[in-house]
Amino acid sequence: MDGFLLLQIGLRMRRQTNFYSTILLLLFFFFLCLGQRSRPDGERPSCNRCDLHLSCNCSHGGFNVVPMVTDRALALDLSFNNINMVNDDDLTGHTQLRVLSLHGNRLAVIHPSAFDPLFYLEELDLSDNQLKVINHKWFSRLGVLQRLNLLNNPYSCLGSPPVFQGLVSLRRLAFGGPHLRTLKKGELSGVTQLEELSVHANNLTGYESGTLAAIWPLGRVSLSLYEPFLTNTALASAVLGDVSYPETPLIIEDVRLDRNESVQPFREPAKKRVRHLTFRNIYVSDEAIVDLLVVLDNAPVTSITVDGVTLMGRGKKPAGPITGIDEFLVKNVVVLPLFHFVSFLKLSYLLAYPRKISVINTKVFVMPCATSFLLKNLQYLDLSDNILTDLTLAETLCYGAGTMKDLRVLNISGNAFKSLSTMNRLVEKLYKLTHLDISRTGYNSMPQNCSWPSTLRFLNISGAQLTKITPCLPTTLEVLDLSNNNLKDFTLTLPSLQKLHLSGNKFLRLPSGSLFPNLQIMTIRSNTLVLFGPSDLQAYRRLQNFQAGQNKFECSCEFVPFLQQAFKGVGDVHLTDGEESYVCDSPLYLQGEPRLHAFWYLKMTWTWLKAKHSSRRRRQCRQQLLNEETSETMLSFDAFVSYSERDSSWVENYLVPELEGPRETDEDSRSPRPLNLCLHKRDFLPGHWIVDNIMSAMERSRRTVFILSENFVQSDWCRYELDFSHFWMFDGNAGRDATILILLEPLSKHDVPKRFCKLRKLMSSTTYIEWPQEEERREEFWRSLRHALRGEDDDWETNTQ
Ligand SMILES: *[C@@H]1O[C@H](CO)[C@@H](O)[C@H](O)[C@H]1NC(C)=O
Ligand SMILES: *[C@@H]1O[C@H](CO)[C@@H](O)[C@H](O)[C@H]1NC(C)=O
Ligand SMILES: *[C@@H]1O[C@H](CO)[C@@H](O)[C@H](O)[C@H]1NC(C)=O
Ligand SMILES: *[C@@H]1O[C@H](CO)[C@@H](O)[C@H](O)[C@H]1NC(C)=O
Ligand SMILES: *[C@@H]1O[C@H](CO)[C@@H](O)[C@H](O)[C@H]1NC(C)=O
Ligand SMILES: *[C@@H]1O[C@H](CO)[C@@H](O)[C@H](O)[C@H]1NC(C)=O
Repeated sequence: MDGFLLLQIGLRMRRQTNFYSTILLLLFFFFLCLGQRSRPDGERPSCNRCDLHLSCNCSHGGFNVVPMVTDRALALDLSFNNINMVNDDDLTGHTQLRVLSLHGNRLAVIHPSAFDPLFYLEELDLSDNQLKVINHKWFSRLGVLQRLNLLNNPYSCLGSPPVFQGLVSLRRLAFGGPHLRTLKKGELSGVTQLEELSVHANNLTGYESGTLAAIWPLGRVSLSLYEPFLTNTALASAVLGDVSYPETPLIIEDVRLDRNESVQPFREPAKKRVRHLTFRNIYVSDEAIVDLLVVLDNAPVTSITVDGVTLMGRGKKPAGPITGIDEFLVKNVVVLPLFHFVSFLKLSYLLAYPRKISVINTKVFVMPCATSFLLKNLQYLDLSDNILTDLTLAETLCYGAGTMKDLRVLNISGNAFKSLSTMNRLVEKLYKLTHLDISRTGYNSMPQNCSWPSTLRFLNISGAQLTKITPCLPTTLEVLDLSNNNLKDFTLTLPSLQKLHLSGNKFLRLPSGSLFPNLQIMTIRSNTLVLFGPSDLQAYRRLQNFQAGQNKFECSCEFVPFLQQAFKGVGDVHLTDGEESYVCDSPLYLQGEPRLHAFWYLKMTWTWLKAKHSSRRRRQCRQQLLNEETSETMLSFDAFVSYSERDSSWVENYLVPELEGPRETDEDSRSPRPLNLCLHKRDFLPGHWIVDNIMSAMERSRRTVFILSENFVQSDWCRYELDFSHFWMFDGNAGRDATILILLEPLSKHDVPKRFCKLRKLMSSTTYIEWPQEEERREEFWRSLRHALRGEDDDWETNTQ
């Protein structure tokens, strides 16, 4: 669209071109260039996307230059813009900045002193840019920098003088990219102690032995060495040798291992006794796997993790079993070409020794019983996220013969099982089984009777389709996860249960606490609970930690204060999930937009407590002032009037004209001065219940007037009870003369619902004035009201006049 528009303008210009317009055009471009060069701050765009923690996210903002951001910013994310240059004054003033990201821009030029103001910078990301040269001066002032990312820029070497020399606090370093050709000794001098080192050197052709060797201690190393592993294994060996230490996990990424030759560099880590080896995103042939295992034979490698592997090859018979590997984890395997590998289990010989095996998300559909039979030492088997079925699970677990007799943990979650009773028969004889994870399966019903190993303590059946629970559940359980099913109730006694998870079901009420005498933790979020009360929770004798957010709560005037107590941890039970997840679903007027958060009440309580405190102080202060010199400047209103929307016509047509207007009938200079009212509706944003405003209005008003009607009591009072219950208005004596009740219709204390205890109290302690239906009694009404509004002030006023 932009390009099209530009083209049209260009064409039009060419048609009109004459000498003068050419001059003008040239001048115009001249000024444009000038503007670009000096770039006064006025032209710099600004970015205001900062949050409360002063973290400014200007990512994806389309900026061509570093935008202006508040000097107080602690973190600045400028990733994914089109910035191609950082000038010397672009970051002036940013002395507070801790984190700066310029990832994914077009940075080709950074002024040598551009980062000098950033004394406190801890993290700098310059990855994915166009930097052809790394300048050591950029980093000369960054003495507290801990993380630096220089990945994927087109530099071919780090260069000299050593670029990282001044970075004495550096703990995480990432550098390299497709253009990195050489690494020379001394280029990394100054870098000593790292938690993490990542080097992308897929096209590395020159490496001076020892370049990376000075970095020690070294927490973790990731290396991408695609070409060296294919074409220059001596170089790959040298790199691996320099970063291999027994306690340093080694992660090899993006490599292709397809010949005996290409696995030889692993002799180095084997020799240096590396214990944890991870392959990520690799292509590997079955031949190379066998060769690799030969290389690693007798090395003390205790864990091999393979995450994202593509197997290519011809399904060659493996050479023979190897010893020593204790743990074997394979994730996200793709088998290419498929027909050569009938299943990943051609490699099952690997499984003879480990105690722990995880084969996750690898499309395993069966583990032959013959294989299981070999797993004499297996204690932990995780086959989650595969394509096992009831039938193939039977084969895998040798038809319930209890073959893997040491098995303690079995995780078969995320498979397509249907029959819980089949599964139960298969694990019945695993006499040491303590943990069983059968979550995210297709189980939709539970048999009446089951038989479990007596050792079973942990059972996870979340994310199935259960509608009912039965005595099938073993009484030995300590942890039970039944989240995300379709359960409506729970009526089984589980005497040992300590943790119960029932979130994401259809419970209308809490299960009875007497079923779980030892329960300590319970989650029942996202159900359809309407309310629960102190007695429900008391029945859970040992419960400490309770989460019940995201339900359909009815925010009654009893429930909300109870919830507030629970958040504060009054009593034994603590609500530990985020308060903001307790949202009122009813009554309807609380449901509207924005949805009213019960948490909001909590905050209000706090605000009011503070207000109460300060208003006491202010009254004391006022008292003092009155004693010395008369001053009521703080009181801007005679009364704050609160009423229901539906009674607004009375307020507007009667109350306001009467009290605020001058009294035409009375020429007497001693006539009462007009009163100054603060009206709930007129003086606030319409439709908003802004407690801060109301609070300050009340503070600045001598009296508070409630226009009581059926409407008001039904629709507004609940909120007053909830929000204002801590305010001085309800403080015994202080409230009595500060509050005036006007009854628009006959309403006795007994008509007020019992739950509005504060209102009932107020009605019995405060005088209230009734609006007479008879015209002739209204004069009397106004007189009483005026008198009540002015109170003793009236005397004071007349005295001074
Ligand atoms: C900034 O916002 C983007 C989405 O626009 C998000 O992906 C990124 O994580 C955010 N950065 C930070 C530091 O929160
Ligand atoms: C090696 O460099 C070439 C050209 O710079 C690039 O196209 C290629 O992707 C690089 N190879 C790897 C594995 O990064
Ligand atoms: C792989 O190479 C190593 C060293 O080059 C050699 O000792 C070994 O015999 C080879 N293995 C196979 C199966 O060719
Ligand atoms: C089972 O595997 C799933 C998915 O990998 C994982 O979330 C869960 O924690 C595992 N369960 C156990 C008991 O280890
Ligand atoms: C469950 O087991 C009890 C006793 O162990 C037995 O009496 C009952 O018939 C069984 N019920 C079913 C449905 O198998
Ligand atoms: C149960 O399994 C689900 C899904 O695999 C997992 O998210 C949850 O954390 C597990 N529950 C427990 C108590 O470990």
